[in-house]
Amino acid sequence: MTTRWGIAGTGGMAQAFISDFAYVPDAEVVAIGSRTAERAAAFADRHDVAAALTYADVLTADIDVLYIATPHPQHHDLALAAVRAGVPVLVEKSFTATLAGARRVVDAAREAEVFCMEAMWTRVQPAVLRAREMVAAGEIGDLLWVEADFGAYRAYDPTSRLFDPALGGGAVLDLGVYVVSLAQHFLGTPDRVAATGTLFPNGTDASAVIMMSHDDGRAAAVTCSLSSSTPQRAVLAGTGGSIEIEPPFYHPTRLVVRRNGSPAVETIDLPATGRGYAHQIAHVGECLAAGLTESPVVPLADTLDVQWVMEEALSQLGVVAPAEGVVEL
Ligand SMILES: NC(=O)c1ccc[n+]([C@@H]2O[C@H](COP(=O)([O-])OP(=O)(O)OC[C@H]3O[C@@H](n4cnc5c(N)ncnc54)[C@H](OP(=O)(O)O)[C@@H]3O)[C@@H](O)[C@H]2O)c1
Repeated sequence: MTTRWGIAGTGGMAQAFISDFAYVPDAEVVAIGSRTAERAAAFADRHDVAAALTYADVLTADIDVLYIATPHPQHHDLALAAVRAGVPVLVEKSFTATLAGARRVVDAAREAEVFCMEAMWTRVQPAVLRAREMVAAGEIGDLLWVEADFGAYRAYDPTSRLFDPALGGGAVLDLGVYVVSLAQHFLGTPDRVAATGTLFPNGTDASAVIMMSHDDGRAAAVTCSLSSSTPQRAVLAGTGGSIEIEPPFYHPTRLVVRRNGSPAVETIDLPATGRGYAHQIAHVGECLAAGLTESPVVPLADTLDVQWVMEEALSQLGVVAPAEGVVEL
């Protein structure tokens, strides 16, 4: 059965996401929602989408799931309205701008028993799935620590969504979410968070170093930056060796495995399909077909814990907490 998708937002991510439907035979985008009729129509024409609608109307369209691709603070209102209307949602990362906002969406989805998932596509990449299997099978012994960096230099422009606080600007919510989520995926939720970093002139976070510590001594050291480009590599280190997720770790094609006492280095090639979003599109279709209300790979409890780590880190950086943005429906 074909899964019929609606998309909210016509920006860069919505355009990237829709291109991967070409690789998923049992999924199609049937409706696009926008703040303006012109942008909805232009997106629908360009991508051959049947219905060009407002955000309010895309919620009541004949769809199986809504993908929310607005700036982070504008996820909350749309996601809440969708789950309350019984519409399953895939919500872009960061899930919301605040932990309180994330809790409201999660509570509403659970109460309505409607599928809800953060679009943390990295977790369903073939190479990351394999790394999880290898760690669970004890191939690198007991996992001790995770390190990951995600720096992507962007010229400072306070009007851009990447820097504007009203649009959830800052490195932590845009890039840090990947490294925090990767660490939480492999190590679980930390007991303590310690963060330091730098700020842009408007007070949004430019870079952050975040330590996620567990009481048993395991830890993750993760970094993110909009003011420096970095290798974008991740390493999982265990008592028996390590697995490197080669750059870009958030959309990887290769694992490099090193085992204690062996000079041999094993490489495992597992490229993603399309731009990497096809796996997530297929995964959501499978969850819906199975009648699930949460993804087993990106459960809502993990989303809340990742949001908690980011909020804690931002507060230690001295970043004024962002607010959830209003979306007129
Ligand atoms: N998974 C990934 O690889 C990836 C990559 C990039 C971004 N993202 C995520 O995707 C989301 C969107 O990012 P983007 O790069 O697509 O942003 P973008 O290019 O700025 O597009 C965002 C879209 O949201 C809609 N929107 C609704 N309310 C808005 C408001 N108050 N201000 C501005 N736009 C508003 C706009 O569409 P209308 O004008 O048609 O309403 C706009 O085109 C973010 O949460 C981001 O973190 C994910």
